[in-house]
Amino acid sequence: MPVITCIDDLKRLHKRRTPKMFYDYCESGSYTEQTFRENTSDFQRLRLRQKVAVDMLGRRTDGTMIGEKVAMPVALAPVGMTGMQRADGEIKAARAAEKAGVPFTLSTMSICSIEDIAEHTKAPFWFQLYVMKDEGFVDSAIERARAAGCSALVLTLDLQILGQRHKDLKNGLSAPPRLTLRNILDMAIRPQWSLEMLATKRRTFRNIVGHAKGVGDLSSLMSWTNEQFDPQLDWKKIARIRDQWGGKLILKGILDEDDARAAADFGADAIIVSNHGGRQLDGALSSIRMLPRIVRAVGDKTEVFLDSGIRSGQDVLKALALGAKGTMIGRAYIHGLGAMGEEGVTKALEVIRKELDITMALCGEKSVENLGRHNLLIPKDFE
Ligand code: FNR
Repeated sequence: MPVITCIDDLKRLHKRRTPKMFYDYCESGSYTEQTFRENTSDFQRLRLRQKVAVDMLGRRTDGTMIGEKVAMPVALAPVGMTGMQRADGEIKAARAAEKAGVPFTLSTMSICSIEDIAEHTKAPFWFQLYVMKDEGFVDSAIERARAAGCSALVLTLDLQILGQRHKDLKNGLSAPPRLTLRNILDMAIRPQWSLEMLATKRRTFRNIVGHAKGVGDLSSLMSWTNEQFDPQLDWKKIARIRDQWGGKLILKGILDEDDARAAADFGADAIIVSNHGGRQLDGALSSIRMLPRIVRAVGDKTEVFLDSGIRSGQDVLKALALGAKGTMIGRAYIHGLGAMGEEGVTKALEVIRKELDITMALCGEKSVENLGRHNLLIPKDFE
């Protein structure tokens, strides 16, 4: 077993151990992938200010997100088809999150269902909803999330139409994998992955199956779903969902100051500054570059979280220093899952927590609440 010291190590193992189709599904952005690349490279452009001769004993990384106590302000973002990276991937990730004391978000497009997660974990988790044309689906998903004790609804607003990802089209992405020569070879040289998949019965989109009337096989289920994203989603429809849910509401996919103001005025408990990890509007600015403007626009009307591009505890620190109350990670934990299953997600979270803690110490800070712009050297184009 190689020594794992950073998320990049997990990424390399993930690539080796997972069929190309599913690794590529994770590690890709839309069109030219400019936004996908800049999500990470823009973090590198923010530099940290070193502080010496300060007492660094008694440091704490804990905080709160939407009033929930968290061991560090890092939640697991919703990721579709997590259960194809490893069998029961959503359950494994949720368990690792519970152990680490951070929130887990289940995607609408997960392989395991809302009920599967509730059965295998004790901590309340967040449910991410895509608004579909079929209101019956939306209504029942909300009811199921409520019945499962979910503590927040994460409404994703930036995927009413799918951004094109070249790799997925070329690989013929489907679940289970389409049986082309390349995919069969890919599975054959990864017997551990194939055996795991054979051993699980949860290889369907279990939140959706049953709603796609008249649709039997999985690839038609995927096409049904792709046609279902409601292109007429507006604030009126969001209000209907808010009223029906009645609990904590987090709006995901905000990248514009006016949208952020509207979301705050609307009464969202939190917004997630996100470009969907560079998978939707290629050419948009990175989330971290948009963060200061959005923090300024909403003031303290709502909590601001950030995702897209976080690969280390240093990145978490930079987002918090620029005014985010919390962060979310997608690929950083999926690399852990694809590399080593539940243990890998635990490893990813440990790596990030340790990096955050050590970086806080070297910046002369003892708690996440004290982080601020004074910890950074900020390029002008971030303003
Ligand atoms: C996602 N993301 C996502 N978001 C969402 O609201 N529902 C979903 O089903 C998915 N599915 C999904 C699949 C994969 C493979 C990835 C990589 C991402 C977006 C996700 O929640 C988050 O915004 C990004 O992953 C954040 O970027 P990083 O951390 O991956 O750089």
